[in-house]
Amino acid sequence: MKIFFLGDIVGKSGCLSIKKNLKNIVKKNDISFVVVNGENAADNGLGITEKITNDLFESGVQVITTGNHVWDQKETAKLIENEKRLLRPNNLSSSYPGNGFEIFKINEFKIGVLNLMGNVFMKKSEDVFENSTNFLKKYKLKQDFDFLIVDFHGEITSEKMAIGHLFDGKATLVVGTHTHVPTNDARILSNGTAYQTDAGMCGDYNSVIGMDKSNSLNRFMKKNSVKHFPSNGEASLCGVIVTCNSKNGLAEKVESFIYGGELSK
Ligand SMILES: [Fe+2]
Repeated sequence: MKIFFLGDIVGKSGCLSIKKNLKNIVKKNDISFVVVNGENAADNGLGITEKITNDLFESGVQVITTGNHVWDQKETAKLIENEKRLLRPNNLSSSYPGNGFEIFKINEFKIGVLNLMGNVFMKKSEDVFENSTNFLKKYKLKQDFDFLIVDFHGEITSEKMAIGHLFDGKATLVVGTHTHVPTNDARILSNGTAYQTDAGMCGDYNSVIGMDKSNSLNRFMKKNSVKHFPSNGEASLCGVIVTCNSKNGLAEKVESFIYGGELSK
């Protein structure tokens, strides 16, 4: 059983590459379950629309996670109430619509997907370590689900790595998102959980984290600029593929995945 996680889809470039390539990648690698972070998938790179959500599902995605930009498109609050395959961070206040955790059935397996958001340099949310500890008290690998995938949407590497260790032996995969840059540290932690600090984005890397590079540079240099907008060159798809052990729910193998665009040159 293989699970594929793809990092933050950025704008048209990321969506187009998913549409064009995902089904072939899934077939070629014998993948059974696909999770993507879609919080930058809208044309302007902010949030996700209903149309894009449906397009991603049609392209072979099973679950979409999000993060700090989840509410940037007005329609998402309504959409997330009825679309259980679209998650928002679990440690957002319960007054927000939607869920941060769901269990999905694929063949004979139950797969839990948990979406978390970091506290450091991020929008205010509940303490992610407290939220995770409560989650782990309530849910157990191989009792409540066969596999557990955790998307930790956060800015800093130390917080991500700490969450990785908190879930070690209790999740199949802990993977970071949000920085839009893949880290070269895919590995299986000491108790069997696959881990990578950041999956990287699915977007145009000839950019500044997916945004138009000239405009972004001008903004940093306080020259004439407009609001950030996505760069629309060919995307690199970035993520991880985990081979899961169905007996214990942990990882047998984890591989970093990069396909197409600037990062494949
Ligand atoms: Fe983000």
